Amino acid sequence: MSRQPLQSTSASPGWITPRRAADAPLASPRSNGVLTLADHAARSRQELELTPVLEEVSIQLACRELFKSYRKGNIGIPVLQGISLFVERGEFLAIVGQSGSGKSTLMHLLATLDQPDAGEIRFDHHRIDNIPSAARDMLRNRHFGMVFQFYHLLPEMTALENVLAPAMIAGGVLGYLRNRAAYRRRAYELLEMVGIGHRAKHKPRELSGGEMQRAAVARALMLKPKLLFADEPTGNLDRASGESIMRMLAELNDREKLTIVMVTHDPWIAGQADRTVKLVEGRIAQG
Ligand SMILES: Nc1ncnc2c1ncn2[C@@H]1O[C@H](COP(=O)(O)OP(=O)(O)O)[C@@H](O)[C@H]1O
Ligand SMILES: [Mg+2]
Repeated sequence: MSRQPLQSTSASPGWITPRRAADAPLASPRSNGVLTLADHAARSRQELELTPVLEEVSIQLACRELFKSYRKGNIGIPVLQGISLFVERGEFLAIVGQSGSGKSTLMHLLATLDQPDAGEIRFDHHRIDNIPSAARDMLRNRHFGMVFQFYHLLPEMTALENVLAPAMIAGGVLGYLRNRAAYRRRAYELLEMVGIGHRAKHKPRELSGGEMQRAAVARALMLKPKLLFADEPTGNLDRASGESIMRMLAELNDREKLTIVMVTHDPWIAGQADRTVKLVEGRIAQG
């Protein structure tokens, strides 16, 4: 499978200037904090003028100077030591590095599963590292898909129910029941798409590793995420199953233009991505 790099450069463009329109003051000083029609018109013009620039620099996810340590007793063990990187919309980025280099820690921060000690993370130009935990939960549920090495399927639920879980969380019981037919249709379609439609009613223990990972991918796609995070998605699979999961991810990226951030220690797996960033002892390796 040969894939064209989106960008030949792996150099970071530096920290991303936040979206001007979003940073613009909400109201002009003369309006005493109340937006006037003229303010709205001016702001729309400003947004329109900025649109071409924003499309040119289409950064979807960026982090700057991330630091993270874990504590063991009184000792702080530094894991991430000033990570800055960006991900373009529609890009397939691989984060590589030896075991223990901090890849999973970094992915957990980017996906808001954990918080950095210092630094910042922006998604669609908005800070996401310092928002309340309920907002982070909602962000992950609505906009991020996640795939892990050990699948993290709920063992008591069937493949179909696992795929439906994000919809149940998003809408609550009532919201889910109101749209149940549409959600179930989508879940079945996704299971077909990942090639395990015939396993919809099976529980994880009745599935192979490859099938469980396919169910996990279908679950990650349930609410049409803007960004898919994958941590060693093939790490627990035999070569053939791993390759078919990689083909699926590459196709999702090619056809659906889904942005993917994948962590792996395997150079062949990383080679399927558009661009690779290497972590060495908690820092981005240069060159
Ligand atoms: N929750 C934790 N508590 C303490 N140390 C941790 C924790 N998670 C990871 N570490 C340590 O941080 C380092 C980086 O781990 P990790 O991000 O999982 O690396 P990778 O995914 O690249 O193998 C390792 O030394 C690991 O032992
Ligand atoms: Mg890891």
